[in-house]
Order: sequence, then structure tokens, then C-alpha cells
Amino acid sequence: MRTIRIIMSLLLMANIITTDAQEHKRREAAADTPSRPALNDTDGNHVNAHGGCIIRVGSTWYWYGEARPQRGFTSLGVSLYTYDIPTREPLLPGMLDGPGMRYNPSFLADKKWVNRGLVLEVVDSAGSPIERGCIIERPKVIYNRRARKFIMLFHLELKGRGYEAAQVGFAVSDNAEGPFVFHHAQRPNAGIWPAGWTEADIALARKHEPSDFAEWWTAPWRKAVEEGMFVARDFEQGQMSRDMTVYQDRRGRWWHVYSSEENLTIHAAELTEDCLGYTGRYYRIAPGGQNEAPVLFNMNDKVWMVCSGCTGWEPNEARMFAADSISGKWIQYPSPMRGEGAERTFGAQGACAVCDGDNVWFVADVWFPRSLAQSRYVSTEVRRWDEAVPTIPHMW
Ligand code: DGJ
Repeated sequence: MRTIRIIMSLLLMANIITTDAQEHKRREAAADTPSRPALNDTDGNHVNAHGGCIIRVGSTWYWYGEARPQRGFTSLGVSLYTYDIPTREPLLPGMLDGPGMRYNPSFLADKKWVNRGLVLEVVDSAGSPIERGCIIERPKVIYNRRARKFIMLFHLELKGRGYEAAQVGFAVSDNAEGPFVFHHAQRPNAGIWPAGWTEADIALARKHEPSDFAEWWTAPWRKAVEEGMFVARDFEQGQMSRDMTVYQDRRGRWWHVYSSEENLTIHAAELTEDCLGYTGRYYRIAPGGQNEAPVLFNMNDKVWMVCSGCTGWEPNEARMFAADSISGKWIQYPSPMRGEGAERTFGAQGACAVCDGDNVWFVADVWFPRSLAQSRYVSTEVRRWDEAVPTIPHMW
């Protein structure tokens, strides 16, 4: 009898759990509310600054990000939230010295973020690259000390053209609070081959035509991608530029790092001194590796890059790469994420590294495509490895 009662109560519990899970899913779908908690600004609204960047200017943190509508996939522009660091608050306590990352919401959640509105807005003039209906993703802001200007770079997709334009937009402001004035949009490095390519490399890339391959992902297709088939295809019009970030090397030069070649290869392109164009020097990283959402930072005399795979708005396992310099030899390591949910990057996809001196945090978006504005955030503190780290046998 007792056994029957135990079985009955177990069945009942299982039923409650299933019903709860179903009910939760149903409510999530109906209310358009993702399951991670919202991050409220000082007005009590969820922060709408996705795929963004957080930079410190003086004693203020500036968080720029995608301002997304409650419904749909187009853009409102770029939003700004700020947080003034109170005097004597210990900044980023407990940081150590190498990349292993654990979920830790405190970097974002401990701060009272003030909504400062849109610093770059889409416009209503027909034909403008940032005409309402366009897609602005992953804005990143550089402070150009020499020019005393703030330069914003962002992934731009033109109105009504899905993701085919694959351009980068530039905007400029005299101060961190904006407004930013749209400068221009382009594809990087038209008419220029990657740095260090020989005549033989160029001839090899030119030998392949995408139309020669009826199917993608076959061994010969992969080889052609690695040999630069898409670099050659886009040589005249400029290289595709989608998910992106910016990176400052130890000499102080800025680089635009982006998913190129149909999201199959990351490119790192050196920016001119004014940060509004390209010097023409660019490198391919992990050709054919299919990496997106690049996040770069310097640590322990190396440059580290954490990327995601390409699964749209769905999370996947992070990938990590390191090199002595951006033009150096890149080695792939396992994902640096540790702890529960690490295998899918805690449900998130990298947005930026927040750097303050030698301290680094990794900030990521938990996408909620039913209502992109409601997408949540994850932060991880970057700590030193506490285990032996095998390298993955991929080297580029
Ligand atoms: C994944 C990218 O990382 C996002 O920024 C966005 O472009 C989505 N893909 C669109 O599907």
C-alpha cells in the first residue's frame, strides 16, 4: 500500500512538473517574456541595448546597443545607457589573469543604468542607408584620442534586402553622449587582397567559382572556401561584413573584426587613423570556420577572440582562439565557458568584452526573437584557467 502511495505521489509530482513546464512555456509564448529576468533601468524598463558595447569614459560607463522594437526585426537605432561610478566603488573586484569564464550577472545587474535615449536614429528619408526598415546590429564605439571624436561602427543591412548587403556603417560624435551623425556605409577593402597574399594565392582563389559547386559543405567546397573562393568573388565590390566588433592592438591601432565570406571566415581589417576607413591591410582568421559574434580582448600578452557558431538567434557553444597579435598565427582552444549551461554559452551569444585596465568581462545577449527588445543579457567574469587547457588541432 505504502509503495503504491509513493508511486502515486511520484506520478502526481511528475505531472505537476510537466504541467508547470508546459504552463511556463505557454505563458512565455503568450506574454512574450523570456525566462531570464529582465535588467531594469532606473525607469523600471528592461534595458534595450543589444549586441552592444560598454566603454568607460572617465568615471562613467557608456553602454551602446541595438534599440530593437517589441515586434519585428528592423531597428530603431542605437541606444545609450550610462552608469556613473560612485567614488571609491572598487571597480571589477576579484579579477584574475586568463580566460576561463563563469556566469556572473553582477557586472550588469549591480549597476543602475540610466536610459539616455537614442544616440543614432534611423531616418525617414527614402534611399538613406539608415532609412527606417534597415537593420543596425552590434554597434561599437571607439574613442579616437587624436581626433577627440567618438566613432561608431555597426553592422548595417539595407531596408528590404534581408542580410544581403552585409555592410558596415560609420557615425561620428564629438562626445560620448552623442548624438552620432551618420557618416557613410560601405563594404570593406574593395579591390584589395588579404595581407601577405602572393600571386599564387590570388590565382588559387580566382580558380574557384561558387557556381561550380552544386552543394555546400562537401570537402572540395570547404577547400575552395579556405583557398579564398568568396574573397575572390567579392573582390570588386568589397568583402562582406556582418557580425562585428572593434579591437585596439597594443600599438594603439584600431581594427574592425567581422564575419565575412558568407559568415564562413572572420576578417580583421586595420582602420585608418581617423577610424573612418581602412588602410587596406586585412587578415583572414579561421578560414571556413563559420564563426560569428567575435569578441576580442588582450590578456597575458595575447589577443583572445571568443566567437559563436552560426545558428541564427539560437545559442551554441562558444569557440575561443588566441594569437600573439592580430596578424599572427591563431590557435583554437575549447570554449572558455564553465559551469551550468556553459555548453550553450549560458543561452547567450557574445556581444562585447568590457575592459577596464587589465580587467575583462564578457557580455552576451540571450536573444528572444519573438520580441528582440526583450532579449536578456548575461555577463561572465574572465578568470584564469584552473585546469589544463588542450588546444584544438586547428591552426590558422
Ligand atoms: C546571429 C547574429 O549574431 C545576430 O547579430 C543576428 O545577426 C542574427 N544572427 C540574425 O539571425
